[in-house]
Amino acid sequence: DASDIEKGTYAHYMLKEIHEQPGVMRKIIQEYQDADGALKVDADIIQAVRQVDRIYIVACGTSYNAGLVGKEYLEKWAKVPTEVHVASEFVYNMPLLSEKPLFIFISQSGETADSRAVLVAVKELGHTALTITNVPGSTLSREADHTLILHAGPEIAVASTKAYTAQIAVLAILAQVVAKDAGHEADIDLLPELAKVTAAITTVVDDAPRMEEIAREFLATTRNAFFIGRTMDYYVGVEGSLKLKEISYIQAEGFAGGELKHGTIALIEEGTPVIALATQEAVNLSIRGNVKEVVARGANPCIITMSGLEQEGDTYVIPAVHEMLAPLVSVVTTQLIAYYAALHRDCDVDKPRNLAKSVTVE
Ligand code: G6P
Repeated sequence: DASDIEKGTYAHYMLKEIHEQPGVMRKIIQEYQDADGALKVDADIIQAVRQVDRIYIVACGTSYNAGLVGKEYLEKWAKVPTEVHVASEFVYNMPLLSEKPLFIFISQSGETADSRAVLVAVKELGHTALTITNVPGSTLSREADHTLILHAGPEIAVASTKAYTAQIAVLAILAQVVAKDAGHEADIDLLPELAKVTAAITTVVDDAPRMEEIAREFLATTRNAFFIGRTMDYYVGVEGSLKLKEISYIQAEGFAGGELKHGTIALIEEGTPVIALATQEAVNLSIRGNVKEVVARGANPCIITMSGLEQEGDTYVIPAVHEMLAPLVSVVTTQLIAYYAALHRDCDVDKPRNLAKSVTVE
């Protein structure tokens, strides 16, 4: 049928969409570039961001997890204080808002009811909203003041992959363009760095057979799994654990390495898989300290690191990219590992039980 044609040679939409990510990065670089080859975003959106004293990112699921990474760009590059909120909580428990807030809604579909409820509420209060979505003309796009499009192409698999990396790339571009407009010193030349990321993602997807081995080695029969990381790697661990839960039904948790000792370490038993992300130089030693703590209690450690930070015995080394952009690459390893874990466990990868691609009820 038609869906088979769209899947092409891939066994599942999820695998196809994971492999599409280098192409999506190239498309985003192209769409957000002006005639002189500089990154560009509509002037009214730059103004909307520059006028505010605080950004509130509101989203659900994987889009929320992308917001966690985006917050770092908006604070560190654009220098705008930024909070990230789960939409379904925000709507019932609105935080004390700043004087001049900007709301950024991140939504692959642009149709998520929880996010829309917040949009309606903040518009009633007279605030400005920017929607970052994959679907032009979607509800959240139409009802917001501004829209940035992800250009990821249709995402069919319930588990979101290419939309997550697209969201992070677009948030990075937005933050850099605002930073430049505001005259902030840049510690990154984003365009060539995104090109490097594209090549690095290609390397990771070409290494899919290695991810299959890792999935088999660490996740074939386990009941649970833990992802640990610090700073940017923490956010990737949260997303990696969500992906694994969604499609393999392995109980998975992603958390900050330093929090281990405050509770979760009680769950480590002989053979418990702990996937540690180590792509950030400033916390490389401390996350490796956390790995030692779990190994001492019997854990089976899977260490995903970045070239330049690797140590003997690491499981997989992603190519070197700018640290702030490492999530765009490291997350792809976790997507593929989740995919193959689900496949080995005979799960319906594209249509996991109890989940919907787009949740249009509150
Ligand atoms: C559903 C999907 C998730 C997605 C979330 C938010 O729960 O199963 O994959 O992350 O909705 O969707 P959105 O379209 O707003 O990004």
